[in-house]
Amino acid sequence: MTKPRTRYVCQNCGAVHLRWEGRCPDCGEWNTLVETVVETRPRPEARQPLAPTSDATPLPEIEMEAFERLRLPLEELNRVLGGGIVPGSAVLLGGDPGIGKSTLLLQTSALVARMGGSVLYVSGEESARQIRMRAERLGIRDPNLYVLAEINLRQIMGHIERLQPKLAVVDSIQSVYLDDLESAPGSISQVRECAAVLLRLAKATGVPIFLVGHVTKTGAIAGPRVLEHIVDTVLYLEGERFHAYRLLRSVKNRFGSTDEVGVFEMTEQGLQEVQNPSEAFLAERLPNAAGSAIAVTMEGTRPLLVEVQALTSPSPFAQPRRTANGVDFARLLLLVAVLSKRVGLNLSNQDVFVNVVGGLRISEPAADLAVAVAIASSYRNRPVAADLAVVGEVGLSGELRSVGQLERRLREAQKLGFRRCLVPPLRGRERPAVEMEILPVRTLGEALEAALLGA
Ligand code: TYD
Ligand code: MG
Repeated sequence: MTKPRTRYVCQNCGAVHLRWEGRCPDCGEWNTLVETVVETRPRPEARQPLAPTSDATPLPEIEMEAFERLRLPLEELNRVLGGGIVPGSAVLLGGDPGIGKSTLLLQTSALVARMGGSVLYVSGEESARQIRMRAERLGIRDPNLYVLAEINLRQIMGHIERLQPKLAVVDSIQSVYLDDLESAPGSISQVRECAAVLLRLAKATGVPIFLVGHVTKTGAIAGPRVLEHIVDTVLYLEGERFHAYRLLRSVKNRFGSTDEVGVFEMTEQGLQEVQNPSEAFLAERLPNAAGSAIAVTMEGTRPLLVEVQALTSPSPFAQPRRTANGVDFARLLLLVAVLSKRVGLNLSNQDVFVNVVGGLRISEPAADLAVAVAIASSYRNRPVAADLAVVGEVGLSGELRSVGQLERRLREAQKLGFRRCLVPPLRGRERPAVEMEILPVRTLGEALEAALLGA
C-alpha cells in the first residue's frame, strides 16, 4: 500500500504547501499549517449519484437507543454529564495544566472501579509509578483499576479492546500519536485524528472514553478547541491555580444540557464536591466593608451567589490602571465608562481593581450591577448593606436591563439569608414568589442610591 499523499494547508489563508513550516509563506501567520491527506486523482464519475444501498427510515420506526447511564456517587460530575456516564461516549476534559484534570479522572476511575467494573487509565504524561503515588495519596488501591503508560494510540486501542473496561481514560490527547502520520504528538493533525479514532472505538465497543486536553495560554490551537466538533461532550475544569475552588463546566453535550456546572474544592485528598457553593463563596466575606457587592449569577441551571470586590485608588499614572479578575476586562471598561458618564463618578484619575472572590469567573451580564455597585461603594467609601444582593445588566445609557430566571436567583439569595435584592424593572411581569423585599430600580444611579449606606 502506498502512503497517502499529505499536504500542509494553512488554516488562516487556505494556501497549500508541500512541507510543514512554522510560518505560512503566503500569509505570514505562525503555526497555521495543518497536515492534510489529499486525494490523488479526482474522478468526475465519482461525483455522480449512487443507487442507494442504505435505507432512510420513517422517524417513529427508528429504535431509540436504550442506553443506561453509569451514575457515579459524585453528583457534581453526574449533573455536568447530564446524569452520568453514557456508554460509548467520548468526553473531552479540557483545562489549564495543573488545574486538576488528572486528579479528577483518577478519582472518577476509582469510583467506577469500586462499582464493580474494570477501568483502564492510560497516561502518556506520567509513569505508572507516579500515578501509583498519586493514587496512594488519594487512598485509591482498587485492583480493577488498570494503569498503562503508553503513547502509541494503536497499542492503547488494543488494550481497550482486550480489557473491555467500563471506562477508559486517555491522559492526554496531546501525548498520544498515530504512527501513520508524520507530524509529532500534540500537533493539530495528530490530536484531531487520534480523537476521531478514539471516538469510533468508543462507538464500536460501547466503552466510554474520557480524553484529557490541555489548553495552553499561547498555543490554544493544538488544544481542545479543534476537538470540540469531534467528541460527544466537552467539559472544562476551571479555576485559579492558587484558589481551592474548581468549576467543572459542560460546554457541549450530545446527551444532556450544556452550561451545567459542578463545583469542587481541591484538597489534600484530591477534589471534593462542594455541596453548597454559594455558602462557600461567601464564607470569608466582611460585612459592611466598602467595595463589596453580592451578585446572583446563573451557572447553567444553578444560581450562585458570589462576592464582587472593587478597589479604587488615586492613580499615580496619567493612564490609570484597570484590573479585572474574574470578570471580562472589556465589560469592566464599559461599566467604568457608564459610571463616569451617567452617574458622574470621576474615575478618570482612579486605578480600578475588580476581583471575584474564590477564583470564580463570571461571564453573565447579570453581574454588571454588582460590579458597578462595588466600584461606586469603594469610590464613595460607603458600604453596601449586608443583607442586600444585586442583580441586573447595565446598559450604555445607565439603564438596568432585565435578566433571565429572576425567581430562581432570588430564591437562592433568600436561602442564604439575604432579605432584600435590587432588580431591574419588572415590566408587568409577575412578582417573583419569594419572601424577601424586591426592589426594582430603573437606572444605575437609582441603584446606587438604594444600595449604598450613609455617607
Ligand atoms: P493534576 O491533576 O496533576 O492537574 P492536571 O492534570 O490538570 O495538569 O493536579 C495537579 C495539582 O493538584 C497539583 O498542583 C497538586 C494538586 N493536588 C492537590 O492539591 N491535592 C491532591 O490530592 C492532588 C492529587 C493534587
Ligand atoms: Mg495531568
